[in-house]
Amino acid sequence: PLVPLKQILDNAIAGGYGVPALNVNNMEAIQAISAAAKKVKSPLIVQASRGALKYTNLIFLKHLMMAASEENPEIPMALHLDHGDNIESVKTAIDLGFTSVMIDASHHSYEENVRITKEVVDYAHQFGVTVEAELGTLGGIEEDISGEVQLTDPDQAVDFVKTTGVDCLAVAIGTSHGAYKFKSEPKLAIDLVKTISDRVHIPLVMHGSSSVPIELREQINKYGGAMPDACGVPISAIQAAVKNGVAKINVDTDLRMAMTGAIRKVFAEQPDKFDPRDYLRPGRDAIQAQAEIKMTAFGSAGHA
Ligand code: G3H
Ligand code: 13P
Ligand code: NA
Ligand code: ZN
Repeated sequence: PLVPLKQILDNAIAGGYGVPALNVNNMEAIQAISAAAKKVKSPLIVQASRGALKYTNLIFLKHLMMAASEENPEIPMALHLDHGDNIESVKTAIDLGFTSVMIDASHHSYEENVRITKEVVDYAHQFGVTVEAELGTLGGIEEDISGEVQLTDPDQAVDFVKTTGVDCLAVAIGTSHGAYKFKSEPKLAIDLVKTISDRVHIPLVMHGSSSVPIELREQINKYGGAMPDACGVPISAIQAAVKNGVAKINVDTDLRMAMTGAIRKVFAEQPDKFDPRDYLRPGRDAIQAQAEIKMTAFGSAGHA
Protein backbone atom coordinates (compact mmCIF):
# COMPACT_ATOMS: atom_id res chain seq x y z
CA PRO A 1 0.00 0.00 0.00
CA LEU A 2 0.95 3.67 -0.23
CA VAL A 3 2.45 4.72 3.07
CA PRO A 4 4.13 7.86 4.39
CA LEU A 5 7.90 7.75 3.96
CA LYS A 6 8.25 8.19 7.73
CA GLN A 7 6.81 4.71 8.30
CA ILE A 8 9.35 3.11 5.95
CA LEU A 9 12.26 5.02 7.51
CA ASP A 10 11.25 4.42 11.13
CA ASN A 11 11.10 0.69 10.38
CA ALA A 12 14.50 0.91 8.69
CA ILE A 13 16.09 2.60 11.71
CA ALA A 14 14.51 0.06 14.05
CA GLY A 15 15.69 -2.81 11.83
CA GLY A 16 19.16 -1.39 11.20
CA TYR A 17 18.91 -1.29 7.41
CA GLY A 18 18.81 1.33 4.66
CA VAL A 19 16.27 1.77 1.87
CA PRO A 20 17.23 2.96 -1.61
CA ALA A 21 15.19 5.92 -2.90
CA LEU A 22 15.12 5.46 -6.65
CA ASN A 23 14.46 8.19 -9.20
CA VAL A 24 12.02 7.55 -12.04
CA ASN A 25 10.92 9.41 -15.16
CA ASN A 26 8.91 6.88 -17.14
CA MET A 27 6.88 3.70 -17.16
CA GLU A 28 9.80 1.34 -17.63
CA ALA A 29 11.68 2.69 -14.61
CA ILE A 30 8.61 2.54 -12.38
CA GLN A 31 7.86 -1.01 -13.49
CA ALA A 32 11.50 -2.00 -13.02
CA ILE A 33 11.88 -0.77 -9.46
CA SER A 34 8.51 -2.14 -8.36
CA ALA A 35 9.36 -5.53 -9.90
CA ALA A 36 12.64 -5.42 -7.96
CA ALA A 37 10.84 -4.59 -4.71
CA LYS A 38 8.39 -7.42 -5.30
CA LYS A 39 11.14 -9.91 -6.12
CA VAL A 40 13.40 -9.19 -3.14
CA LYS A 41 10.52 -8.19 -0.82
CA SER A 42 11.73 -4.67 -0.12
CA PRO A 43 9.81 -1.57 0.85
CA LEU A 44 9.93 0.88 -2.05
CA ILE A 45 10.69 4.60 -2.23
CA VAL A 46 9.75 5.90 -5.67
CA GLN A 47 11.07 9.39 -6.13
CA ALA A 48 10.44 12.00 -8.79
CA SER A 49 12.35 15.21 -9.30
CA ARG A 50 10.73 18.42 -10.53
CA GLY A 51 12.34 17.53 -13.86
CA ALA A 52 10.56 14.16 -13.85
CA LEU A 53 7.23 15.83 -13.13
CA LYS A 54 7.82 18.30 -15.94
CA TYR A 55 8.88 15.56 -18.39
CA THR A 56 5.71 13.59 -17.72
CA ASN A 57 3.45 16.63 -17.38
CA LEU A 58 2.59 15.60 -13.79
CA ILE A 59 -0.50 13.55 -14.43
CA PHE A 60 1.18 10.71 -16.31
CA LEU A 61 3.74 10.21 -13.58
CA LYS A 62 1.05 10.27 -10.93
CA HIS A 63 -0.93 7.53 -12.65
CA LEU A 64 2.17 5.43 -13.36
CA MET A 65 3.12 5.58 -9.70
CA MET A 66 -0.43 4.73 -8.64
CA ALA A 67 -0.37 1.80 -11.06
CA ALA A 68 2.77 0.48 -9.37
CA SER A 69 1.02 0.62 -6.03
CA GLU A 70 -2.18 -0.96 -7.36
CA GLU A 71 -0.21 -3.79 -8.95
CA ASN A 72 1.84 -4.43 -5.79
CA PRO A 73 -0.56 -3.97 -2.86
CA GLU A 74 1.69 -6.00 -0.56
CA ILE A 75 4.67 -3.64 -0.91
CA PRO A 76 4.89 -0.63 1.43
CA MET A 77 5.49 2.17 -1.05
CA ALA A 78 6.22 5.86 -0.58
CA LEU A 79 5.84 8.35 -3.43
CA HIS A 80 8.40 11.05 -2.80
CA LEU A 81 9.11 14.46 -4.35
CA ASP A 82 12.90 14.79 -4.75
CA HIS A 83 14.41 18.27 -4.29
CA GLY A 84 11.21 20.32 -4.13
CA ASP A 85 12.29 23.96 -4.31
CA ASN A 86 9.40 25.85 -2.77
CA ILE A 87 5.99 25.51 -1.15
CA GLU A 88 4.30 25.52 -4.57
CA SER A 89 6.13 22.43 -5.86
CA VAL A 90 5.36 20.73 -2.55
CA LYS A 91 1.66 21.57 -2.82
CA THR A 92 1.58 20.26 -6.38
CA ALA A 93 3.10 16.93 -5.29
CA ILE A 94 0.75 16.55 -2.34
CA ASP A 95 -2.24 17.31 -4.59
CA LEU A 96 -1.03 14.52 -6.89
CA GLY A 97 -1.04 12.04 -3.99
CA PHE A 98 2.64 11.94 -3.03
CA THR A 99 3.11 10.60 0.51
CA SER A 100 6.40 12.40 1.05
CA VAL A 101 8.17 15.56 -0.08
CA MET A 102 11.65 16.96 0.09
CA ILE A 103 12.02 20.68 0.49
CA ASP A 104 15.55 21.63 -0.48
CA ALA A 105 16.13 25.19 0.65
CA SER A 106 19.72 24.44 1.61
CA HIS A 107 21.14 26.96 -0.86
CA HIS A 108 19.38 29.78 1.00
CA SER A 109 20.69 31.32 4.22
CA TYR A 110 20.21 29.17 7.32
CA GLU A 111 17.38 31.41 8.57
CA GLU A 112 15.61 31.25 5.21
CA ASN A 113 16.08 27.44 5.05
CA VAL A 114 14.45 27.18 8.49
CA ARG A 115 11.57 29.49 7.51
CA ILE A 116 10.79 27.72 4.20
CA THR A 117 11.17 24.22 5.68
CA LYS A 118 8.90 25.03 8.61
CA GLU A 119 6.23 26.35 6.26
CA VAL A 120 6.39 23.08 4.30
CA VAL A 121 6.31 20.94 7.46
CA ASP A 122 3.26 22.78 8.80
CA TYR A 123 1.49 22.34 5.46
CA ALA A 124 2.47 18.71 4.73
CA HIS A 125 1.81 17.36 8.20
CA GLN A 126 -1.87 18.34 7.90
CA PHE A 127 -2.09 15.63 5.25
CA GLY A 128 0.10 13.05 7.00
CA VAL A 129 2.81 13.66 4.41
CA THR A 130 6.43 13.14 5.45
CA VAL A 131 8.96 15.96 4.98
CA GLU A 132 12.68 15.67 4.18
CA ALA A 133 14.85 18.80 4.27
CA GLU A 134 18.54 19.44 3.65
CA LEU A 135 21.31 21.23 5.49
CA GLY A 136 24.67 21.88 3.86
CA THR A 137 25.97 21.62 0.31
CA LEU A 138 26.85 18.48 -1.58
CA GLY A 139 30.33 18.12 -3.02
CA GLY A 140 33.56 16.19 -2.66
CA ILE A 141 35.56 16.95 0.47
CA GLU A 142 38.99 16.63 -1.07
CA GLU A 143 38.32 17.79 -4.58
CA ASP A 144 36.37 20.95 -3.87
CA ILE A 145 38.50 23.89 -4.87
CA SER A 146 35.73 26.46 -4.92
CA GLY A 147 35.41 26.36 -1.13
CA GLU A 148 31.66 26.10 -1.52
CA VAL A 149 31.19 22.66 -0.02
CA GLN A 150 29.64 22.99 3.43
CA LEU A 151 29.37 19.74 5.33
CA THR A 152 26.35 19.67 7.63
CA ASP A 153 27.09 21.34 10.96
CA PRO A 154 25.87 19.17 13.89
CA ASP A 155 24.87 22.09 16.15
CA GLN A 156 22.93 23.66 13.30
CA ALA A 157 21.29 20.28 12.58
CA VAL A 158 20.04 20.01 16.16
CA ASP A 159 18.56 23.52 16.03
CA PHE A 160 17.13 22.93 12.53
CA VAL A 161 15.35 19.70 13.42
CA LYS A 162 13.95 21.15 16.64
CA THR A 163 12.78 24.39 15.03
CA THR A 164 11.28 22.94 11.85
CA GLY A 165 9.87 19.61 13.07
CA VAL A 166 11.15 17.93 9.89
CA ASP A 167 10.84 14.11 9.70
CA CYS A 168 14.17 13.24 8.06
CA LEU A 169 17.28 15.20 7.16
CA ALA A 170 19.56 15.09 4.13
CA VAL A 171 23.11 15.64 5.30
CA ALA A 172 26.13 16.78 3.31
CA ILE A 173 29.00 14.36 4.01
CA GLY A 174 31.07 14.72 0.85
CA THR A 175 28.91 13.14 -1.87
CA SER A 176 27.61 14.94 -4.94
CA HIS A 177 25.07 14.26 -7.66
CA GLY A 178 25.80 12.74 -11.06
CA ALA A 179 28.24 10.35 -12.74
CA TYR A 180 31.40 12.41 -12.18
CA LYS A 181 31.67 12.61 -8.43
CA PHE A 182 35.30 11.83 -7.63
CA LYS A 183 38.57 11.23 -9.46
CA SER A 184 39.55 8.49 -7.03
CA GLU A 185 38.13 6.53 -4.11
CA PRO A 186 36.34 9.26 -2.11
CA LYS A 187 36.73 10.35 1.47
CA LEU A 188 33.30 10.62 3.08
CA ALA A 189 32.50 12.03 6.50
CA ILE A 190 30.89 8.89 7.93
CA ASP A 191 31.82 9.97 11.49
CA LEU A 192 29.73 13.10 10.92
CA VAL A 193 26.70 10.90 10.21
CA LYS A 194 27.08 9.33 13.64
CA THR A 195 27.63 12.66 15.38
CA ILE A 196 24.49 14.12 13.82
CA SER A 197 22.36 10.99 14.21
CA ASP A 198 23.22 10.68 17.92
CA ARG A 199 21.92 14.21 18.44
CA VAL A 200 18.92 14.67 16.15
CA HIS A 201 17.22 11.28 16.55
CA ILE A 202 15.54 11.31 13.12
CA PRO A 203 16.46 9.21 10.06
CA LEU A 204 19.20 10.74 7.90
CA VAL A 205 19.29 10.81 4.12
CA MET A 206 22.26 10.44 1.81
CA HIS A 207 22.04 12.09 -1.62
CA GLY A 208 24.43 11.49 -4.49
CA SER A 209 24.78 7.83 -3.55
CA SER A 210 25.28 6.18 -6.94
CA SER A 211 28.32 3.93 -7.07
CA VAL A 212 28.91 4.62 -10.78
CA PRO A 213 30.00 0.98 -11.32
CA ILE A 214 32.88 0.57 -13.77
CA GLU A 215 31.06 -2.24 -15.58
CA LEU A 216 28.10 0.04 -16.35
CA ARG A 217 30.39 2.72 -17.76
CA GLU A 218 32.33 0.12 -19.73
CA GLN A 219 29.17 -1.28 -21.27
CA ILE A 220 28.05 2.20 -22.34
CA ASN A 221 31.45 2.98 -23.84
CA LYS A 222 31.78 -0.44 -25.48
CA TYR A 223 28.64 0.23 -27.47
CA GLY A 224 29.44 3.71 -28.71
CA GLY A 225 29.12 5.86 -25.58
CA ALA A 226 31.75 8.30 -24.35
CA MET A 227 31.61 8.58 -20.59
CA PRO A 228 34.84 9.74 -18.95
CA ASP A 229 36.23 7.82 -15.97
CA ALA A 230 35.07 8.73 -12.48
CA CYS A 231 34.42 7.14 -9.10
CA GLY A 232 31.14 6.97 -7.25
CA VAL A 233 30.25 6.12 -3.68
CA PRO A 234 31.44 2.63 -2.72
CA ILE A 235 28.71 0.32 -1.43
CA SER A 236 30.86 -0.24 1.70
CA ALA A 237 30.69 3.51 2.51
CA ILE A 238 26.91 3.42 2.20
CA GLN A 239 26.76 0.38 4.48
CA ALA A 240 28.89 2.23 7.04
CA ALA A 241 26.60 5.26 6.79
CA VAL A 242 23.56 3.03 7.34
CA LYS A 243 25.15 1.61 10.52
CA ASN A 244 25.53 5.18 11.73
CA GLY A 245 22.02 6.52 11.12
CA VAL A 246 21.33 6.86 7.38
CA ALA A 247 18.01 5.25 6.41
CA LYS A 248 17.28 6.67 2.92
CA ILE A 249 19.86 6.47 0.15
CA ASN A 250 19.19 8.37 -3.08
CA VAL A 251 20.19 6.70 -6.34
CA ASP A 252 19.46 7.96 -9.83
CA THR A 253 22.66 7.93 -11.92
CA ASP A 254 23.28 4.15 -11.67
CA LEU A 255 19.77 3.44 -12.96
CA ARG A 256 20.25 5.86 -15.86
CA MET A 257 23.54 4.23 -16.76
CA ALA A 258 22.09 0.71 -16.55
CA MET A 259 19.24 1.52 -18.91
CA THR A 260 21.46 3.40 -21.35
CA GLY A 261 24.02 0.58 -21.52
CA ALA A 262 21.36 -2.02 -22.18
CA ILE A 263 19.74 0.04 -24.93
CA ARG A 264 23.07 0.84 -26.57
CA LYS A 265 23.88 -2.87 -26.63
CA VAL A 266 20.73 -3.64 -28.59
CA PHE A 267 21.35 -0.77 -31.00
CA ALA A 268 24.95 -1.86 -31.56
CA GLU A 269 24.38 -5.60 -31.83
CA GLN A 270 21.02 -5.63 -33.55
CA PRO A 271 20.92 -2.54 -35.77
CA ASP A 272 17.97 -3.99 -37.67
CA LYS A 273 15.70 -3.61 -34.63
CA PHE A 274 13.25 -0.74 -34.54
CA ASP A 275 10.44 -1.94 -32.29
CA PRO A 276 10.91 0.12 -29.09
CA ARG A 277 10.02 -2.90 -27.00
CA ASP A 278 13.14 -4.67 -28.30
CA TYR A 279 15.36 -2.15 -26.52
CA LEU A 280 13.12 -0.81 -23.75
CA ARG A 281 12.59 -4.30 -22.34
CA PRO A 282 16.33 -4.90 -21.80
CA GLY A 283 16.59 -1.31 -20.54
CA ARG A 284 13.87 -2.04 -18.01
CA ASP A 285 15.50 -5.34 -16.97
CA ALA A 286 18.81 -3.52 -16.42
CA ILE A 287 17.17 -0.99 -14.08
CA GLN A 288 15.49 -3.84 -12.20
CA ALA A 289 18.83 -5.60 -11.72
CA GLN A 290 20.40 -2.41 -10.32
CA ALA A 291 17.45 -1.84 -8.00
CA GLU A 292 17.75 -5.40 -6.67
CA ILE A 293 21.48 -4.87 -6.08
CA LYS A 294 20.79 -1.72 -4.03
CA MET A 295 17.94 -3.25 -2.02
CA THR A 296 20.08 -6.24 -1.18
CA ALA A 297 23.26 -4.28 -0.40
CA PHE A 298 21.54 -1.58 1.69
CA GLY A 299 19.61 -4.25 3.59
CA SER A 300 15.96 -3.45 2.78
CA ALA A 301 15.46 -6.76 0.93
CA GLY A 302 13.27 -9.05 3.01
CA HIS A 303 11.66 -6.21 4.94
CA ALA A 304 8.50 -5.55 2.84
O1 G3H B 1 18.97 15.11 -7.64
C1 G3H B 1 18.95 14.91 -8.84
C2 G3H B 1 18.28 13.69 -9.36
O2 G3H B 1 19.26 12.83 -9.90
C3 G3H B 1 17.22 14.08 -10.37
O3 G3H B 1 17.78 14.64 -11.50
O4 G3H B 1 16.59 16.80 -11.87
O5 G3H B 1 17.75 15.60 -13.75
O6 G3H B 1 15.62 14.70 -12.79
P1 G3H B 1 16.88 15.49 -12.55
P1 13P C 1 23.09 10.15 -7.86
O1 13P C 1 23.33 11.17 -8.93
O2 13P C 1 24.37 9.79 -7.16
O3 13P C 1 22.37 8.95 -8.33
O4 13P C 1 22.19 10.86 -6.72
C1 13P C 1 20.81 10.99 -6.91
C2 13P C 1 20.18 11.88 -5.88
O5 13P C 1 20.75 12.26 -4.88
C3 13P C 1 18.78 12.28 -6.15
O6 13P C 1 18.29 13.16 -5.19
NA1 NA D 1 22.38 21.60 -0.42
ZN1 ZN E 1 19.62 14.60 -4.46
